[in-house]
Amino acid sequence: MLPERRGVFGGLDQSKVADQNNDYGLLAVRRSRRPGRMRLLFWIFSFAALFSICIATFGFKMFFHGVEEHQNILTSTDVKAVSVESKTMEQPKKKLRRARFYPCKVELQDSAEAPVEPKTFWKFVKFSLQYIVRENIETHVNHITPRFGGHQTLEEREQSFNAVNQTVHCGFVKGFEGVSNTGFDLDKEDKMYMNTCTVVVSSCIFGSSDFLRRPTSKMISQYSKENVCFIMFVDNDTLVKLSKEGSVPDEKRSIGLWRIVVVSNLPYDDMRKTGKVPKFLSHRLFPSARYSIWLDSKLRLHTDPMLLIEHFLWRNKAEYAISNHYTRHCVWDEVQQNKRLNKYNHTAIDQQFLFYQSDGLPKFDPSDPNKPLPSYVPEGSFIVRAHTPMSNLFSCLWFNEVDRFTSRDQLSFGYTFLKLKRTNPDKRFALHMFKDCERRAITKLFHHRNP
Ligand SMILES: *[C@@H]1O[C@H](CO)[C@@H](O)[C@H](O)[C@H]1NC(C)=O
Ligand SMILES: *[C@@H]1O[C@H](CO)[C@@H](O)[C@H](O)[C@H]1NC(C)=O
Ligand SMILES: *[C@@H]1O[C@H](CO)[C@@H](O)[C@H](O)[C@H]1NC(C)=O
Repeated sequence: MLPERRGVFGGLDQSKVADQNNDYGLLAVRRSRRPGRMRLLFWIFSFAALFSICIATFGFKMFFHGVEEHQNILTSTDVKAVSVESKTMEQPKKKLRRARFYPCKVELQDSAEAPVEPKTFWKFVKFSLQYIVRENIETHVNHITPRFGGHQTLEEREQSFNAVNQTVHCGFVKGFEGVSNTGFDLDKEDKMYMNTCTVVVSSCIFGSSDFLRRPTSKMISQYSKENVCFIMFVDNDTLVKLSKEGSVPDEKRSIGLWRIVVVSNLPYDDMRKTGKVPKFLSHRLFPSARYSIWLDSKLRLHTDPMLLIEHFLWRNKAEYAISNHYTRHCVWDEVQQNKRLNKYNHTAIDQQFLFYQSDGLPKFDPSDPNKPLPSYVPEGSFIVRAHTPMSNLFSCLWFNEVDRFTSRDQLSFGYTFLKLKRTNPDKRFALHMFKDCERRAITKLFHHRNP
């Protein structure tokens, strides 16, 4: 079964994966010459036959969806890629055609110059948001382990949703005096550089989970090359692995447009959770930044960042932009899918979901003309934001949910947004949820590195 499954991935688009696949095939042939392996081979073939029958019976779509979500690598553009490449591969062609997601036209400003920020843009809800640096509890006396996310009580959590002058938990909570940091430690020089950034494009690879995909240089304007910080956060292991593959940072710590920033003392054992720190907390990591763009490592940036800010924020008068999920809009469906594909500990998912239901999370109603969002489930691999108080607050709140509950941020997005809105009925949070097909148009989608 393994070679067949790999075959499915191998046909996709990475030559590396394909090579791996070939190696695997050779290995099988080599092995077959050894009499002791014949029995194994027999079982593999039997299994493959059974597997084909299963596919024929239940339809490829089901199988395919399983792979797609489980691996989190076969996203829709890949589906298209598969159906093209499958002509030359031995793939069940017609069944692959079912789930296709295409990019759609994004009307970007046609300009060689940097777009100019509209004078009226920063007219968003104003308040002063501060962040908890050190908690007021005596952690060492009570034998409480200091945590990066702190120890927010439910009462503090409730309070934190108010869009008023206040101090909230937002990661980077230090331990008590004289004890090692709670994590996400950065080099002084990197920190100094990051402090200068006013517009940031950032991404991360922790735990060698992906390849390094450089932004398409010819699509990035000279202005952006000179004025936008492109930051790729990695851990040491990832850096070592990238270096072995020939991606070595130069004397300016850069690989192409990416400046590589090594994070040590990772705050969570769960690499996905660690990845949420740069994803959500760019306003903490880049204190001078006015705008930031987040890009999952599976995406290659294929559009100039200033044009993206113009398109998603300025033109829409939005302070936060994220795309909707390409198939799921209701958190109920998302929960089911997460469990079906064993994305996370089921008990933990249930705890989170029950908590949200008891706090009024509604089902998504597509027929409601006044629904506050086109979907309660985002495709959060691409986020554009202005660092306004409301946008920063939302980022902190969303991060706190991921810190408290599961790292599956698609489960907490809708709840966090709706609760923020409900708590502050007279204060607008200008969130623009755009179509997933737009995300496909401005980035190039890959799959994550095969484990
Ligand atoms: C909130 O903070 C701002 C800036 O620090 C200040 O000007 C304003 O008066 C404060 N508002 C309230 C209600 O305290
Ligand atoms: C990074 O990893 C390499 C290889 O495992 C090791 O030699 C080096 O000391 C590590 N550096 C840090 C800062 O941990
Ligand atoms: C799953 O989550 C529950 C509740 O958070 C926890 O008690 C349990 O130990 C977890 N199980 C595993 C296998 O991690």
